[in-house]
Amino acid sequence: MSVYLNGRFLPLAEAKVSVLDRGFLFGDGVYEMVPVYSKRPFRLKEHLRRLQASLDGIRLANPHNEAEWRDLVVKLIAQQDFADQSVCVQVTRGTPSGAQPLRDHPFPRNAAPTVFMFAQPLVTASAAQKAAGVCAVSAVDNRWQRCDIKAISLLANVLLRQQSVDAACAETVMLRNGFLTEGAASNIFVVNDGVLMAPPPSNLILTGITYDVVLELAAAHGIPHEVRPISEVEVRGADELWMTSSTREILAIVKLDGAPVGAGVPGPLASRMDGLYQTFKQQVMRA
Ligand code: PDD
Repeated sequence: MSVYLNGRFLPLAEAKVSVLDRGFLFGDGVYEMVPVYSKRPFRLKEHLRRLQASLDGIRLANPHNEAEWRDLVVKLIAQQDFADQSVCVQVTRGTPSGAQPLRDHPFPRNAAPTVFMFAQPLVTASAAQKAAGVCAVSAVDNRWQRCDIKAISLLANVLLRQQSVDAACAETVMLRNGFLTEGAASNIFVVNDGVLMAPPPSNLILTGITYDVVLELAAAHGIPHEVRPISEVEVRGADELWMTSSTREILAIVKLDGAPVGAGVPGPLASRMDGLYQTFKQQVMRA
């Protein structure tokens, strides 16, 4: 498998970074996950825009312009022998050089960022999984207040996501001060009385690229939708609950904390939206 590290494409086993890298010592970096269908990146422009916003959020200069990123991502994709991929792009604040302390919280002087990219096979939900839906657990969102930055420091998300694994479920739905934020690694949508609802973009959630596509599709196809704060009561009383992400696409949550969501099976709007999403993907890929 070929990966990209600091200007070179090389075999995974040969890709090495310093143990003093800020990403390793401080989780000081940001990332993106770009889905790739039939070797074509989906919504790359939007992912690169969000990468820029994350870099701005941590005050790290973008090492590449959009054209350079596009070129690197396309080259990485071409070097894999599988067609559907999830490409991870990661930028850290690099390694302190010269006489600087080995480990010191403030930004090092003159450190070149570390740029690392790799691709994995993209495994989206099977037809059987979509038909069955998944279960989720809820938890208090105890992350920091800059969840809009796609930071590699994901310890809170990892611990929260593991809670769902321990319960043999697919996701942890997070609530902060009685309101829905998002999933540990996804956005969460709620359907009540035929209205699709999503929490508004803010510093408390990562606004997903998939989230944006879902709302665009709702608008384009006349599906009633509202972007507004969603209370825990509305979540627990939902007719439908979905999780969305670049790797999971749109997946119905049919059980929350052991209680059925709506009828306890994937709802009609989830399958309609999944159909619209699959069609949209194919249209974009053909264009
Ligand atoms: N995560 N919120 C969080 C906390 C996420 O980690 C993700 C995705 C999303 C959805 O964003 P998008 O639709 O752009 O994938 C929302 C990726 C897939 C990951 O970390 O693996």
